[in-house]
Amino acid sequence: MSGIHRATLIPGDGIGPSVCEAAVAAIEATGVKIDWQVHQAGLAAIEAGRDPLPKELLESIRDTKVVLKGPITTPVGEGYKSVNVSLRMEFDLYANVRPCVSFAGVNTPFPKTNIVIIRENTQGLYTGQDMYVGPDKQMAMLFAYNTRDAMRRISRYTLEYARTHGRKLVTAVHKANILKSLSGIFLENFREIAEDYRDIEVRERIVDAVCMELVRKPYEHDVIVTTNMFGDILSDLAAGLVGGLGLAPGGNYGDEVAIFEAIHGSAPDIAGKNVANPISVMLAGVMMLRHIGEEDAAERMQLAIQDVLKEGEYLTPDLRPHSTWGTTDLTRAVVDHLA
Ligand code: NAI
Repeated sequence: MSGIHRATLIPGDGIGPSVCEAAVAAIEATGVKIDWQVHQAGLAAIEAGRDPLPKELLESIRDTKVVLKGPITTPVGEGYKSVNVSLRMEFDLYANVRPCVSFAGVNTPFPKTNIVIIRENTQGLYTGQDMYVGPDKQMAMLFAYNTRDAMRRISRYTLEYARTHGRKLVTAVHKANILKSLSGIFLENFREIAEDYRDIEVRERIVDAVCMELVRKPYEHDVIVTTNMFGDILSDLAAGLVGGLGLAPGGNYGDEVAIFEAIHGSAPDIAGKNVANPISVMLAGVMMLRHIGEEDAAERMQLAIQDVLKEGEYLTPDLRPHSTWGTTDLTRAVVDHLA
């Protein structure tokens, strides 16, 4: 595909700007031209005297429909609402696709892992009414919901994904033995939609059992579909199986807009030290290139990342303890491979 694409870039907080810079450099090295509209959000926006989710950013996303995003800090237990959740709700980004794949050259006990976790992104425990009640905050409560339509939509999305990506097995992960309605509605609708996909093997697992299976035999899993909070937790677990948060990208897809990001956070403990692993955001960049129809560039960028990891020379300390190579070195290695 030729011409110049337009996309919104949110550098994010903490390690965000440095890993996003790395991803942009690698995308540029593929030869694909992107006119980036850069906007801040979260802490970075507040520090610039703006709203955590500025109006201009939302307008830019409505316009470009494609976003590469760095992690955004969310205060714990107080402060502004998660910008990530707000963006997913605003653009109805209902499918969060998180591939967790082992790479040659990266030390892991599970070298054959190749799992995609697809998480319903707009309902469930993260988007309900969460509040303290009573004097002195004596009690906390949450009203959460999952709708039939949303459960059918994520089930169909996943089974369609499996079919178009040559995947053979989809596991629906739930807790319908305890959360008989909230999780039951997911399972019931998954079963119904699966009837239309007889070519894909489907099975059901309770979330606690799947945690155990994932850390014992992850290679027996293929595609997992689940509701919001379980998907968030399982995908960090799966990232740990293949070498950590530095290697796990995610795409948030709606019918109109898509946002690509690493699954990790802003990592304030290592911000500004040039040690953050940029590969997750680079892999999110690969997903973005595929989404905008730049298959060839996406493939080359994926191969460059694979080659650099396999050669094992410039790995950041999260991948090789005591390594003195940093974000900029690993970035340069990938960019040089693409040259
Ligand atoms: P985190 O993912 O930022 O960090 C967890 C651990 O992993 C830390 O030790 C960190 O140094 C390490 N780590 C993360 N990414 C790394 C990378 N690329 N290279 C090397 N090491 C890496 O999770 P944490 O500390 O719980 O959250 C920090 C902030 O990020 C919070 O405000 C949280 O709300 C936010 N967050 C934002 C997300 C997003 O914007 N999508 C996702 C997850 C968390």
